[in-house]
Amino acid sequence: MSHIGNYDDARKNFTWEISEKELGYVPGAVINIGEYCTDRICRMGKADKLALIWEGHDGHVKKYTFNDMRQLTNTIAAFLKSNGIGDGERVCLFMDKVPELYFGFLGVLKLGAIAQPLFSAFGADSLLTRLEDAGTSVVITQKKHLAKVRTIVPQLPTLKLIVVVDDDGVKPLREKEVAFHMDEAERVDSFDIFPSLAETPSVLHYTSGTTGKPKGAQHVHYSLISQYITAKYVLDLHDDDIYWCTADPGWVTGTSYGIIGPWANGVTQCVTDTGFKAESWYRFLETMKITVWYSAPTAIRSLMKEGIDVVKKFDLSALRHLCSVGEPLNAEAVLWSQEAFGRMFHDTFWQTETGSMMITNFPGMPIKPGSMGKPFPGITAGVVDLSTFEEITTPGLVGLIAIRPGWPSMFRTYWKNEATYQNKFKNGWYLCGDRASIDEDGYYWFVGRDDDVINTAGHLVGPFEIESALLEHPAVAESAAVGKPDPVNMEVVKVFIALKPGIEANKMLELDIMNFVRKKLSALAMPQDIEFVASLPRTRSGKIMRRVLRAKEWGEDIGDISTLEND
Ligand code: PRX
Repeated sequence: MSHIGNYDDARKNFTWEISEKELGYVPGAVINIGEYCTDRICRMGKADKLALIWEGHDGHVKKYTFNDMRQLTNTIAAFLKSNGIGDGERVCLFMDKVPELYFGFLGVLKLGAIAQPLFSAFGADSLLTRLEDAGTSVVITQKKHLAKVRTIVPQLPTLKLIVVVDDDGVKPLREKEVAFHMDEAERVDSFDIFPSLAETPSVLHYTSGTTGKPKGAQHVHYSLISQYITAKYVLDLHDDDIYWCTADPGWVTGTSYGIIGPWANGVTQCVTDTGFKAESWYRFLETMKITVWYSAPTAIRSLMKEGIDVVKKFDLSALRHLCSVGEPLNAEAVLWSQEAFGRMFHDTFWQTETGSMMITNFPGMPIKPGSMGKPFPGITAGVVDLSTFEEITTPGLVGLIAIRPGWPSMFRTYWKNEATYQNKFKNGWYLCGDRASIDEDGYYWFVGRDDDVINTAGHLVGPFEIESALLEHPAVAESAAVGKPDPVNMEVVKVFIALKPGIEANKMLELDIMNFVRKKLSALAMPQDIEFVASLPRTRSGKIMRRVLRAKEWGEDIGDISTLEND
């Protein structure tokens, strides 16, 4: 039985107070996400219930109850405190999907510090940009990523501490580096949790835009009110569910719905630290008896490629609810999931900045395959005209996706970049930077990004970051990065490069450039295609016209570029 019956009634009756009441929160009181996900669940009689079932890449399984999680998050918070780290400081979690990442995140929040999770596949440059901007005090990492951290330490004067969670003593640790072994550490049963209030900063998630460096979307502890209730209603979490969110906590899905939402609901989560492989994912679903699964279109399309016969080899009868996020979920994928699993994936739309789901397919609501669904009750959304920002009321007309500000998990600023934050609001709306239309039944249909950001496998990659990295390559004079269509990843990075005079394009150089970006930034940002050109199209003021290059890749009409040329 879903929690939310009929959508229209829910929309009429919903207020965020419902969530506040269920969480026992009264305005003005202390609200600490770390406490809510651990201590509070234990007090509700679930201390011995499993919180996390974790599987390592070698098949090793570890299990932790809510009481284990309560104590271990205390232990991490106390360890940081004893090393002189206090509230408000930025603590970066730079790890694979190991238990220390999940508990470290909550431990940092219990301390009152700001959790800054970063994708462990990031290269040294991607890491440096984000740590420098945040003025990060601590990096918690694994020994396999330590080399990357060490290369940038000299450029990070604010960095006080590097915690290595799996140090084996083989290589000596350096200045500022300390070992911490969570499972062996003496457990701290009682920790003085920081009395954070609604507006106390909690999480800093870096996200890419068209121009400039990645921006830190800053969230607050009050975001819990949104994350708890959307996890409950949209993911349809119940007490006996076994839940799997495939997202990495380096990205917002992995924290809002891979840590905060489910654990604040006291639900058991499974995590696998293995990469993607259809058979191993199905085996994981089968052996863990997963009931609710939150994944992404690229993963679903990859599963589709392997065919339905593979699915049928496994007993997935426990599965009862499937959701997706991050990129457009094509209608074929929804229909395929009905055939493969006997259920449709429920698409959800939201962003790093929104902190929680905005447009969703509710359990029980008829799904129109290919549509993102309707706004979550409590969310006032619309599409607005591209230039006047007036609401479009004609069904089917394309405009910008807009949300009325004020939902609990809305980001509160971009770290040290209030001007860019303010610029996201127009005519009383928060603008997501995406285009969509709304049909006569109120369903939202995604059209595309309104900017040059590349969405590859559900991860946003900023063209500026790639182009800046490429400028450091000795052969590159200038470049433009755009998204090129890809059947599985939706988009992959393609770069157009003008070489320095006298340098000749060849296959070796192409591979060298690809590798250069992969090492500096990440495999996601690595160009899958390079086209060498004599020069790049520019506006009269000299800005590179990525849009023209992108339109060509997509076989789209370039449209009126006269305005661009006068830009
Ligand atoms: O362009 C939209 C796309 O991903 C962007 C947000 O990316 P990020 O901040 O990294 O957060 C991703 C996970 C919450 C959006 O602006 N996007 C997200 N969900 C969908 C989507 N595009 C189409 N359909 C979706 N369901």
